[in-house]
Amino acid sequence: MALPFPEITADEAAALIEHGQTIGFSGFTPAGAAKAIPRAIADRARAEHAAGRPFKLGVITGASTGDSLDGHLAEADAVAWRTPYQSNAAMRRNINEGRTRFFDMHLSLLQQWVRYGFLGKVHYAVVEAAEVTKDGEITLTTSVGATNTFLSQAERILIEVNSFHPTELYGLHDIYEPGDPPNRREIPVYTVRDRCGRMVAKVDPRRIAGVVFTDEPDEVGAFREADAVTRKIGENVASFLAAEIHAGRIPPGFLPIQSGVGNIANAVLGALGEHPEIPSFEMFSEVIQDSVIELMENERISFASGTSLTVSQEKLTQIYRELDFFRRRMLLRPQEISNNPEIVRRLGIISVNTAIEVDIFGNVNSTHIMGSSMMNGIGGSGDFTRNAYISIFTCPSLAKGGKISPIVPLCSHLDHSEHSVQVIVTEQGVADLRGKDPHERATEIIDKCAHPEFRDELLGYSADVKDGHTPQTLDRAYAMHQSFLERGSMHGVLWK
Ligand code: COA
Repeated sequence: MALPFPEITADEAAALIEHGQTIGFSGFTPAGAAKAIPRAIADRARAEHAAGRPFKLGVITGASTGDSLDGHLAEADAVAWRTPYQSNAAMRRNINEGRTRFFDMHLSLLQQWVRYGFLGKVHYAVVEAAEVTKDGEITLTTSVGATNTFLSQAERILIEVNSFHPTELYGLHDIYEPGDPPNRREIPVYTVRDRCGRMVAKVDPRRIAGVVFTDEPDEVGAFREADAVTRKIGENVASFLAAEIHAGRIPPGFLPIQSGVGNIANAVLGALGEHPEIPSFEMFSEVIQDSVIELMENERISFASGTSLTVSQEKLTQIYRELDFFRRRMLLRPQEISNNPEIVRRLGIISVNTAIEVDIFGNVNSTHIMGSSMMNGIGGSGDFTRNAYISIFTCPSLAKGGKISPIVPLCSHLDHSEHSVQVIVTEQGVADLRGKDPHERATEIIDKCAHPEFRDELLGYSADVKDGHTPQTLDRAYAMHQSFLERGSMHGVLWK
């Protein structure tokens, strides 16, 4: 049946967008990210720049996206400002060189901020879909992210109907948008598996400016295989949690796991799956990645709730082949629900995220290199950490070929404070910070987590300071960072 909105090309869609506008793009990681229209917008930006005209946009997404979106738009210098998260090398370069203003925010807040108008007007929603009906019912693809809010708030809508994704994805999504204060009620999710919304996003079809038909896979990159360090970090997390079950501090049936993305997160999940004393568990997380699918097949993960299905093409093809099996075991929600502080605390989630650096008091930097260069953003780590039943941060005890200790006297940037961080895990061991004062924390973190090559240096720093509740000396707190910047190594800093 003919659809009541125009079928257009990606170039025609891009031609509708004006310099200075704000676009809400679908995508949470490369999963479900719009592809053809952002590439065409990048071409348009280049043509406008070549003609001597300005062309830059405000770009809002769920989180990071694929190369067709962040990569192409950044290479074309088409992004005036960006939020809430990114992980693309070209976008990161533009941000750190000051060509793109980046606003780093908690992912659970994004949708309500768009609704509240804090980020200004959204002119277009550019959204990937598996299907759109003539009544404006949209079945999303491999992520929800903030897409439902872009669809409800944007002035006009452009849709990429991507036939790579089967229309049988209908039923994988649970789309719920809470009321705004002062009329918000509790979000009715009481177990990991609860549904509380609709299977589709619904819009007035008259707001759809055009539909572009495409057929292309998500641009999800490959993970590195676990190495000795990441494997040991994973084992340390699993052993710590098994000991917590034994001690009666985690219920015998276990609690839902939230796990960050990346290689350490994959290794942690693998280790949890292999540990004989950890029962089959559920995930209430952001991203469902390859390792989750493997553990589902082995019946080690019984259910996963997330906001994106960020898996390799090989895994996605397998999921689509066995969609009935996987649809009964997973659910994709908007990011304001998957990361919702109210639900995270209600369900008692164990959060496991990766730090760039951790200081000896348990403060964590997740985002900045040497205090100034943005890496990716805080993502959902704050949403989960601040509200978790137990919050864990992992990192290797050495970085940059051993020249850097990620355990430092004072973080060069702060994302998670000592009040929210409960456990630090490196391949060296586990520092349990619960109930410890700053002197005890410093000893625990240095003894259990720092690399032996840096222990004396760190002990020297903290032992040197006797007075005060927190053994910190402001003029020396960044001596290790300063040494790296001046000499290329944090080694050999003398405190006297
Ligand atoms: N000082 C300087 N550089 C450091 C460093 C330190 N203390 N620690 C790590 N790095 C560098 C690494 O060398 C690497 O650099 P490269 O890209 O030049 O090789 C880079 O930072 C990334 O480190 P990597 O070991 O590849 O880590 P990762 O892929 O596991 O990512 C984070 C780690 C922290 C960047 C990533 O987890 C992140 O963005 N976290 C924030 C968001 C989040 O937690 N999301 C999940 C919530 S649901």
